[in-house]
Amino acid sequence: MSEFTPLQARQTARNPATCPELTPVLLQSLAAKTAEALALLTRIANEYAPAVFANSLGAEDMALTDLILQNRLPIRIFSLDTGRLPTETYDLMAAVEKYYGTHFEVFYPERVALENFVRTNGINAFYESVALRQSCCRIRKVEPLTRALAGSKAWITGMRAAQSGTRQNLALQTYDADHGLEKFNPLLAWSEAEIWAYIRTHNIPYNPLHDQFYPSIGCAPCTRSLSVGEDIRAGRWWWENPETKECGLHVKG
Ligand code: ADX
Ligand code: SF4
Repeated sequence: MSEFTPLQARQTARNPATCPELTPVLLQSLAAKTAEALALLTRIANEYAPAVFANSLGAEDMALTDLILQNRLPIRIFSLDTGRLPTETYDLMAAVEKYYGTHFEVFYPERVALENFVRTNGINAFYESVALRQSCCRIRKVEPLTRALAGSKAWITGMRAAQSGTRQNLALQTYDADHGLEKFNPLLAWSEAEIWAYIRTHNIPYNPLHDQFYPSIGCAPCTRSLSVGEDIRAGRWWWENPETKECGLHVKG
């Protein structure tokens, strides 16, 4: 395991991607994308009630949180706490609760399944095989997601097509047959620069790890920082092949 560079190995340089130059062109495209996203969120709230938003507290999800809460849209917001999130993510959760004056609806893994998995396979079994990594994701994320979605007509994510090769064919709206409800990706066509322009112009809370070259943040042991030129999701499960690198929350978009 000595070649691992897990999340604890911090970089100090500032990440230019989180501070794009706010040019007139960028601000114009941001305004258009914001209006479209708000219109879609409003439609979801009206036509697919009750709707829920799965909030990972990543940069995209901070923009969606702001759009939903500032516009008082009747959309439930939940987070899945895997038990292995970075300290910075828990601190952000607390900061967001304070900023918007609300509490998070948090879902946890089923206790017996998690205890059995760890007792049988070890505390860091996810490094040992793709199968064990996927089992860990299934217990800590996928099963709690099923409970979080129960009873809703639509769910919303912060996924963007440009995030990785596995997300290029993502749709704005799709039927999630696994969970039996509509699924929306309102930020589908947003660029990374537009996400950061939203965060900067609205001055909303975000995870400071993004400034330290962590564009995509999941569980602490399965997230590392990026080197120059690496794909946005290269820091997630970096020891696996790109085609296996989804956690099972989004099997079909
Ligand atoms: S994933 O591989 O972990 O699924 P990513 O971190 O890029 O990917 O998240 C994509 C979307 O999945 C997020 O925008 C969010 O909607 C949902 N999601 C991911 N992790 C969580 C979480 N812990 N709690 C709630 N939603 C999540
Ligand atoms: Fe487990 Fe890693 Fe998946 Fe988190 S990202 S649930 S620690 S395998």
